Amino acid sequence: MISSPSKTGNICIVSGDITTLEVDVIVTAANSDLAGGGGVDGAIHDAAGPGLLEECLGLGGCETGSVKLTGGHDLPAKFVIHAVGPVWHGGGQNEEALLASCYRRSLELAVERGARSVAFPAISCGIYGFPIVRAAEIAIGEVATFLATNNQIESVFMVAFGAETRSALESALASANGTGDAQLIVEYRPIGVVHSPFTQMKGTPIQPSRADGARGTVEVFPDFTEGLSDLDGFSHIILLCHLHRSTKSRLKVVPYLDTEPRGLFATRAPCRPNPIGLSVVRLLAIEDNVLSIENVDLLDGTPVLDIKPFVGEFDDHSDVRIGWLDAVRKRRWRADDRFSD
Ligand SMILES: C[S@@+](CC[C@H](N)C(=O)[O-])C[C@H]1O[C@@H](n2cnc3c(N)ncnc32)[C@H](O)[C@@H]1O
Repeated sequence: MISSPSKTGNICIVSGDITTLEVDVIVTAANSDLAGGGGVDGAIHDAAGPGLLEECLGLGGCETGSVKLTGGHDLPAKFVIHAVGPVWHGGGQNEEALLASCYRRSLELAVERGARSVAFPAISCGIYGFPIVRAAEIAIGEVATFLATNNQIESVFMVAFGAETRSALESALASANGTGDAQLIVEYRPIGVVHSPFTQMKGTPIQPSRADGARGTVEVFPDFTEGLSDLDGFSHIILLCHLHRSTKSRLKVVPYLDTEPRGLFATRAPCRPNPIGLSVVRLLAIEDNVLSIENVDLLDGTPVLDIKPFVGEFDDHSDVRIGWLDAVRKRRWRADDRFSD
């Protein structure tokens, strides 16, 4: 995932399959009959199942530059917004304004339906032929402008299918942030995935030290297994993970262990601008590409970004102060579900 906090909210550029995103709304690049098409629209219809087309056909089509909403059917998203982008005719037929309208009206409709997270494809950039660099500037510009005056939408994912789209979106995002500096954008590729008994936030241990020996595994992807050699000599490892089900980000948060709001960076809450988790777990065994671990506090399916050996000499300190946690640390040790949908 590539992400950069914009001046106004959190816009993330994501490479991959929009149909798999667990967001409130995914937007599709529809045709004016709302009859399902090729490209991203076809993929969304395939993943959503026949009920989506049936619902679409009852909507009476949609004008270019406008949007209509349906349910998500078999998708993880709650709703699909069908945005009809313009076909590119050279730029003289109001194409830019029509494209901007698709993004703006999608966000307006998403807000009306109570959405907090929205994912967009690059509308009009497939067979409709809109030049990608200009389309990305319009997309990012409209989204950033909208977020400047809206507090409800917490995350907007711009989903790039292909390297050219991604790089256009990255440049547009860097410019919108007023930096023009692509160094603000960081890309990580998961090296593996956690398998654990926990499928929802509620009830998941709050930290490894309070996980009552819960066991799981880390499946390391084949490209990275060579990096596991010599790790078997360590009793504990540090897992750095992308807390992928954390959809909300806040700078003040009432931590699960407390009753008062605290600065996010003085907590270990998952609702972070970059939702990175750090878990020190016991390493039980390594078999090929699979690490057996104990004291897991991560949801099943959590992408792993990095693994490091835990080294007492490096990571343990004797003179530790633990701030507000000192007063509350005996309270509770299982999570709630405030930061998920
Ligand atoms: C408080 S966080 C601590 C994670 C890590 N030990 C840390 O300090 O960064 C642990 C909680 O995050 C939530 N969580 C675990 N895996 C997650 C995931 N993949 N996405 C979102 N939230 C997750 C669960 O509610 C769990 O109780």
